Parts: sequence; C-alpha cells; structure tokens
Amino acid sequence: MTDTTQHIRVLVLPGDGVGPEVVSSALEVLDVAVTGTSLSIELDHQPVGMEAFRKHGVFIREQTLDAACNADAVLFGAEGGADWDAVRLTSGLQGALLQLRQRLQLYANIRPIRSWPLCTSTSPLRSDVSKNADLVIVRELSGGVYTGLPRETRRVGDQSVAVDTQSYSSEQISRVSRLAMQLAKRRSHNLVSIDKANVMETGRLWRSVVTEIARNDFKDVQLEHLYADYFLYALIQNPRRFDVVLADNLFGDLASDCAGAIAGSLGLLPSASYGLATRTVFLEPVHGAAPDIAGTHRSNPIGAILCVAMMLEHVCQRDDLALVIVKAVEQSLESGISTPDIGGTATNRDLTESIVGRIRWLRSKPK
Ligand code: NAD
Ligand code: IPM
Ligand code: MN
Repeated sequence: MTDTTQHIRVLVLPGDGVGPEVVSSALEVLDVAVTGTSLSIELDHQPVGMEAFRKHGVFIREQTLDAACNADAVLFGAEGGADWDAVRLTSGLQGALLQLRQRLQLYANIRPIRSWPLCTSTSPLRSDVSKNADLVIVRELSGGVYTGLPRETRRVGDQSVAVDTQSYSSEQISRVSRLAMQLAKRRSHNLVSIDKANVMETGRLWRSVVTEIARNDFKDVQLEHLYADYFLYALIQNPRRFDVVLADNLFGDLASDCAGAIAGSLGLLPSASYGLATRTVFLEPVHGAAPDIAGTHRSNPIGAILCVAMMLEHVCQRDDLALVIVKAVEQSLESGISTPDIGGTATNRDLTESIVGRIRWLRSKPK
C-alpha cells in the first residue's frame, strides 16, 4: 500500500422508493471500509427522480449530469414508482437514469450474480441447482431498442401503431464484446453470447461481429453462441454452466432480473457500468424503486453494498477492501441475518449494522 492519499469524488444520487435507504447503507459501508486507508472519499449528494421533479421540475438537472461526468464514481439508488410513472407519462420527460446513461455514454454494464450461503433456500430453484452459481452478465448499455429510432406512436387508419427500433452498429457490438472477452480471460476463459440471430437482423450482425473479434483477437476465449430464449431456459436449468455472458441491452436487462431469482432476490445484485464520455464508473443496484416495500425498512441493502465493493475494485483498484465487504456480506448471511426477501425478518438497518460490524472486525484482524 502506498502512503499517497487517493482522492475519490463520488456523486450520490439516492432517487426514489428504496433508493435512499439502500444508498445510505452503502455509504455507511464505504465509510467503514476506507477508514484508516489511503483513500479519501468526497461525497456530493444531488436529487434525481421525484425529488428532483418536486424541487426543479425535471428528473435530473443539467448540473447533475455535468457533475456525473466530473466524478470518479456515481452511486445511483433507484428511480420509479407510481408517481414517477404518472409524471413521466403526462410530461413526456425522460427519466434520470436513461439521461445519465446517455450523457456518460455508458456502453457496458457488468452485472455479477452469485448464490450466497443460505439464500439458496429463498431461491425458487432447488439448492443443488442454485448453489455455487457465479456468473457475470455483460449487458450492452448504449444501443438496441432502448435508443433506436424511430420511436413513436402513429395513427394508421383507425389504429394506433407503436414503433420501437432495434438498431446496432458493428462498433457498438465490438466495444462491449472486447470488454466481455477481457473479463472472460480474467475468469474461466468461457464466454456465452446471446442473441436472436435466427430472427433478427441485429442478431445476425451481433453474432458475426462477436465471432470475428474472438477469432482475431481472443483465440484463448472459448466462445459459444446461444439463442436468448434457450439461454434463459438453460440458465434456470443449470446456472453453474455459465461464467461470462454477453447480451444486448434488452436481453441483458431481462436475463439479469431472471438471474436474480438464482441468487435468491433481486435485492442482492450490484452493477457497474463503463462509459465512453469520461472515466466515471457508474454504480447501481440492478433492482428498481421497489414501491411495494418502500418506507417499510424491509429493503435488502446488499445490492447497493456490493456496488461499493465494485467501486473499490473498479475505481480505486482496492480489490483487498472489496473482498472484505464481500466476506462481511457472506458472514452476515451465514449468521442468519436476512431481510424478508431472503426469508428473514431483519430490517435493512439490522442487516446493514451486521455487515458494518463485520467489516470493522475483519479490518481489525492482524494480517
Ligand atoms: P423492482 O426491482 O423495483 O421490484 C421488483 C420486486 O423486487 C418487488 O417485489 C420488490 O419489492 C423486490 N425488490 C427490489 N429491490 C429490492 C430490495 N433491495 N430488497 C428487497 N426486495 C426488493 O422492479 P419493478 O417493480 O418492476 O419496478 C418498480 C419501479 O422501479 C418502476 O417504476 C420501474 O420503472 C423502476 N425501476 C427502476 C430501476 C432503476 O432505477 N435502476 C430498475 C428497475 C425498475
Ligand atoms: C435496469 C432497469 C432500467 C432498464 C429501467 C429502469 C430504465 O430495468 O437498469 O435494469 O430497463 O435498463
Ligand atoms: Mn432491469
């Protein structure tokens, strides 16, 4: 370890629903994880989602988008819920999350999924199927049906016709493929790429670009192509078959929620995204605002807490500290402290305090 202080600027965007609660847990973890190290963390909190709309009439202000570009890391909670949906429909305003993704030109969203001790009992899969699952979905985040044009609803005769466009350039496919292959090289050297090349033009381009890159530049990566529908089936049949999975924007979104069921709860999944605009790493739990449990203190903070572990690894290159957080999460779950989504009665606070206490203890142990 060097004694030069590493100064990290984190933009904190708690957002809606359970967002503020899980982000507050994550910040407690960040604080205890870096205390006494050479890392100094500067936090800037700004409103997004309904809080920003109530104060400023937009889901995210220009200055917040600028602040995101200037930060080393952004920690985003969640956006959404019934009031947000209603405002978005009537105002036509674009949500903060999609604006942030566009401004930072986020193109690769890394979503690790693993089964945790005891959570196998809340996974709908038999524990012999879900246990020891450990995979990463690399989701393309800049293109596909999320950004393709035209996107509109037209009148055609007496009908309304809505159009979304799935569009991919070879460059969009290529850059995320390379990142997924580099990740595969650091893990098992296996990569599964999913598409619908049997139906979609974009699927055919996707498959040919991925194949070409593997053939030319990643000869040591074993590449397998699967149709996205069969992949979801195979994932549930045998999650241990998969290590790194490359998916387009929409298939990656669907696949990662599905994989949440393997882990035992959507509340357990973190993610980190890389952009083209700046070096900012964007951290967000995979789950949403969870309006059904917001305000009841039942939210699982682990997805957001693991975002902090990803921040320490991807932004600060402190894999050692990231590992301490993961160990503390593991030990807390092993000790039976669980929120209701993973079969327990603990509150968000109980679980956060347990994890924070274990990080303190793990860090105080002589090496
Ligand atoms: P959701 O992820 O908010 O909730 C799905 C289910 O998972 C709910 O039963 C919820 O209680 C549970 N859940 C989610 N996070 C949890 C946590 N941390 N702890 C315990 N349980 C948790 O998805 P949804 O219901 O489809 O969407 C609700 C709103 O959130 C919508 O407005 C949607 O657009 C938005 N959304 C936002 C994001 C984001 O901000 N990143 C992601 C997904 C959905
Ligand atoms: C996610 C979410 C977002 C998406 C929504 C909230 C726009 O579901 O990050 O998984 O569809 O990408
Ligand atoms: Mn999603």
